[in-house]
Amino acid sequence: LQTLAKPPLTLRLCEPRGFCAGVDRAIQIVVLALKKYGAPVYVRHEIVHNRYVVEGLKNLGAVFVKELTEVPDDGQPVVFSAHGVPKSVPAEAERRELLYLDATCPLVSKVHKQAMRHMRLGRHVLLIGHAGHPEVVGTLGQLPVGAVTLIETEEDVEHFAPANPEALGFVTQTTLSVDDTAGVIAALGAKFPALHAPSSDSICYATTNRQDAVREAAPGIDLFLIVGAPNSSNSMRLVEVAERAGAKASRLVQRSIDVPFELLHGGMNLAMSAGASAPEIIVDEIVAALRERFDLRIELVQTAVETENFPVVRSLRETPLTGA
Ligand code: F3S
Repeated sequence: LQTLAKPPLTLRLCEPRGFCAGVDRAIQIVVLALKKYGAPVYVRHEIVHNRYVVEGLKNLGAVFVKELTEVPDDGQPVVFSAHGVPKSVPAEAERRELLYLDATCPLVSKVHKQAMRHMRLGRHVLLIGHAGHPEVVGTLGQLPVGAVTLIETEEDVEHFAPANPEALGFVTQTTLSVDDTAGVIAALGAKFPALHAPSSDSICYATTNRQDAVREAAPGIDLFLIVGAPNSSNSMRLVEVAERAGAKASRLVQRSIDVPFELLHGGMNLAMSAGASAPEIIVDEIVAALRERFDLRIELVQTAVETENFPVVRSLRETPLTGA
């Protein structure tokens, strides 16, 4: 029997992609807490925005809750997600004498500190970000009501009329589009020349690096696949960056089943990256599914080398590994 040759397909694979140091640390905290304390370990909010990760942790004994009120007083720990929490959450955990572990990414905690510093210096704080995102809820919740205003768009800047335009400082969500945020900051700076920036960029290294690689890979691409979840801010931004940087189309995929194989044909140029909360195993799954159908040629587009590593607290790290 003569087998038909598979049609050729080029796949540009972005590097860096996928898990960042903050996500990696948050997952490790839940896994180590399960080893140390046994199941259940309660996790307030999706630890990171990825269903595959959440389901995997559920299978190990993690119980996901929306609010602390759902956590019983059974002596088992509760973990706060990588996105950070309003100050009222650890305060409530302490009042109830719950054992809690904070998996807030250190780079989100840094933004919290930057916001508090602005306030200490007598500035009204502007948070540039997306309403309702857990990180934004957490950062707003670092400051008293009335001390901070959320700015989502350049239009919001037009309508914003502060009591004292001379005393303003801004911070941003860590996972925004670098380009869009530059536009909002420029609009703020033009309207309020005395505006104070944070001491360093709030958009994190992982967001910046993933967007840079997608921007570099996008020109000439027929379809750009971004592995990630619809509620993952940094993944959604990668979809936008890909299209703006020249990809003809860009699509968010959670698993290989979401890839629109019916639209693919030989000779096409594809590219792929993954948001900071998307595990590499799904990238592998998609590469394998493409290989089944095409003669795949992979080109690596690498724009940075990441060495960041955020260690978990020592008390968890020193847990003897059971069964090891
Ligand atoms: Fe932290 Fe940035 Fe990841 S803020 S959780 S390193 S996307």
